[in-house]
Amino acid sequence: MASRISLTQYLVEKQREKGLIPAELRLLLEVVARACKRIGYAVSRGAIDGVLGEAGSSNVQGEVQKKLDVIANEALLEANEWGGNLAAMASEEMDHPYTIPHRYPKGEFLLLFDPLDGSSNIDVNVSIGTIFSVLRLPEGVKEPGEEHFLQPGTKQVAAGYAVYGPSTLLVLTVGDGVACFTLDKEIGSWWLTVERMQVPRQTREFAINASNARHWQPPVKRYVDELLAGRAGPRGTDFNMRWVASMVADVHRILCRGGIFMYPRDDREPGKPGKLRLLYEANPMSFLIEQAGGAATNGHQRIMEIVPTKLHERVAVFLGSKDEVERVTSYHREVSR
Ligand code: AHG
Ligand code: MN
Ligand code: MN
Repeated sequence: MASRISLTQYLVEKQREKGLIPAELRLLLEVVARACKRIGYAVSRGAIDGVLGEAGSSNVQGEVQKKLDVIANEALLEANEWGGNLAAMASEEMDHPYTIPHRYPKGEFLLLFDPLDGSSNIDVNVSIGTIFSVLRLPEGVKEPGEEHFLQPGTKQVAAGYAVYGPSTLLVLTVGDGVACFTLDKEIGSWWLTVERMQVPRQTREFAINASNARHWQPPVKRYVDELLAGRAGPRGTDFNMRWVASMVADVHRILCRGGIFMYPRDDREPGKPGKLRLLYEANPMSFLIEQAGGAATNGHQRIMEIVPTKLHERVAVFLGSKDEVERVTSYHREVSR
């Protein structure tokens, strides 16, 4: 049998070889991966275990929570609170950060997550996932608060996502490329199945929710119109479109074969910078995409350089193949000039 590399071995090697990650971070990532296994199991049980449908509550963003949003959030909290490597956790599903109970030791890391991404796809059996980001608690801080999470994405020490699809996958970066692991459900191991994911620089595939087209701002309209014009238009080539409506699934496709993903701000609510959340959606995905050779901006600047002002801050997102992200960003810059 060809020898396989497990997630544990991969992380131990990163720790040993390059001193890239401390042991505490490795353990923390393994616990996150374990929680994703549990969530993946709950997802796969679906109607048999009665986990589909609404929970009957709303989150801080005013979104209706699905049962699995709540189950996934609890699975991540429970798995991570006792390990001793975390100072606090923040989640899409919680108004404020969760501090580690006093009965457990506290560590130096902060964990942020979107426990269940793609909630609108849960009940229709389409791929969904979990997104996470790890930051360091700023030095000297004893009692972590919301303000300590407000660090730019460049400060992330690890980020990743799990996709619950035909296979259950874990895609991870610790700042040394992007690796993909596939869950072996029989024995419970995550096996390394792609060692270094690379986003091709060029692409002919784009992802955007086109039902919002009438609300888009001029740079986005221009960019998408040019793509839609195909071979006869200024781009001189035909483009294909895909929109899963689970960011994890759309980003995963882009990490596998290239593409550009867009969730722009639009004219419906001028005060709202976009739909997706900076700290636990856009930043971890930007870290992964950049580590795989792609780019990620909000139309004006690199997403990972934005200094957050709120835990649940939203942001416009353009990410994926570098040439396309640069092009749509340049269209925004032309307008602001
Ligand atoms: P979440 O389920 O965590 O709230 O995130 C949903 C996000 C993201 O996964 C996806 O790209 C986008 O919302 C889909 O939005 P539309 O429903 O507007 O297509
Ligand atoms: Mn999400
Ligand atoms: Mn979510």
